Amino acid sequence: MATTAPIMEQAPDSAKIILGIETSCDETAAAVLRLENGVPEILGEVIASQFDDHKAYGGVVPEIAARAHADVCDSVVEETLKRAGVTVADIDAFAATSGPGLIGGVMVGMMTAKALAMSSGKPFIGVNHLEGHALSPRLSEPVEFPYLLLLVSGGHCQFIAVEGLGQYRRLGSTIDDAVGEAFDKTAKVLGLGFPGGPAVERRAKDGNPDAIKLPRPLLDRPGLDMSFAGLKTAVLREAQQMELTDQALCDIAASFQKTICEILTEKSRRAMQLVREEMNFAGEPGFVIAGGVGANQALRTSLTELASEEGFSFHAPPLKWCTDNGAMIAYAGAMRFISGQVSPLDLAARPRWPLDEASAETNPVFGGGKRGAKA
Ligand code: KG4
Ligand code: ZN
Repeated sequence: MATTAPIMEQAPDSAKIILGIETSCDETAAAVLRLENGVPEILGEVIASQFDDHKAYGGVVPEIAARAHADVCDSVVEETLKRAGVTVADIDAFAATSGPGLIGGVMVGMMTAKALAMSSGKPFIGVNHLEGHALSPRLSEPVEFPYLLLLVSGGHCQFIAVEGLGQYRRLGSTIDDAVGEAFDKTAKVLGLGFPGGPAVERRAKDGNPDAIKLPRPLLDRPGLDMSFAGLKTAVLREAQQMELTDQALCDIAASFQKTICEILTEKSRRAMQLVREEMNFAGEPGFVIAGGVGANQALRTSLTELASEEGFSFHAPPLKWCTDNGAMIAYAGAMRFISGQVSPLDLAARPRWPLDEASAETNPVFGGGKRGAKA
């Protein structure tokens, strides 16, 4: 990663304590993590959500998010240290999300971590938010490299082969909206509230998933790229043609959720076959789902069945580490730190920062989501 500079290699088995800060979207989060012999332990964490600030707008408003992060970031860090039972002096390095994400928020978290690093004379580590998600399953279980990752969040939808720390190969991604965005937009069209994913999932439980037929863009084409923008329009069209009774809302939500599950499950099957045939993923490799949409129970069930059919072991971080959190940033920061990489204090925030920079250059995907952060 070009944005980190090597420092002296750390003794990998000595315990290190890292503070991680996450502010790239609408969660102000921090965690203190202890890493010893490669085993992470979260000593304390806080996740302060801004849902209420954005509710009225049906989506995250960047300026409101940045101000809200600035208002609470210091107290979130203070409370995190208190819960962990440590002080700033106990921390070996300070990590913060440095992109991709909403730039105002990213700057708040980075400035907080840099200030703590500077005042205590300890290193600062700028973390790629996507690397945080990519490594997040290892917070709760020792998932071995290499594994196949499906990252599905409000800003991203991509398949990544995770071959080691800093070794990520993007295999396919959305060419327009992220899948979480599709959930949020559908919820908005149906008047279900924000954030959309949990609202759609709740309604879907009481609906008929076969009630309406929605398009499955790009499913008939080879490859792992996906498209979700047309789904929102299709849902809107259906909603305009029906009397929106409670049952109709549940039926549309269930049909939408089923469509998403089918697209992601079929594309995951192809991704599993690809890594087996072309990337030497042998034995029973891991298949990981991460990111906010990974909290969706119907999707988890469908992908668990698929993994078992294809001979992959299925892993999903606990729900609190699926959505944005400080623990994954502390863990990615700790892994960078023990491998001898820290960042300069003048590191800039990056609104866009693909995990697999080589693929992003040779095969860029298009689209500018609300978070402007797609790889
Ligand atoms: O990972 P995340 O917290 O933030 C980003 O990095 O984007 O993901 C947030 C997204 C939102 O679009 C939200 O609607 C979606 O994850 N989400 C869900 C569920 N819980 C959160 N989507 C579907 N089902 C859920 N249960
Ligand atoms: Zn995220």
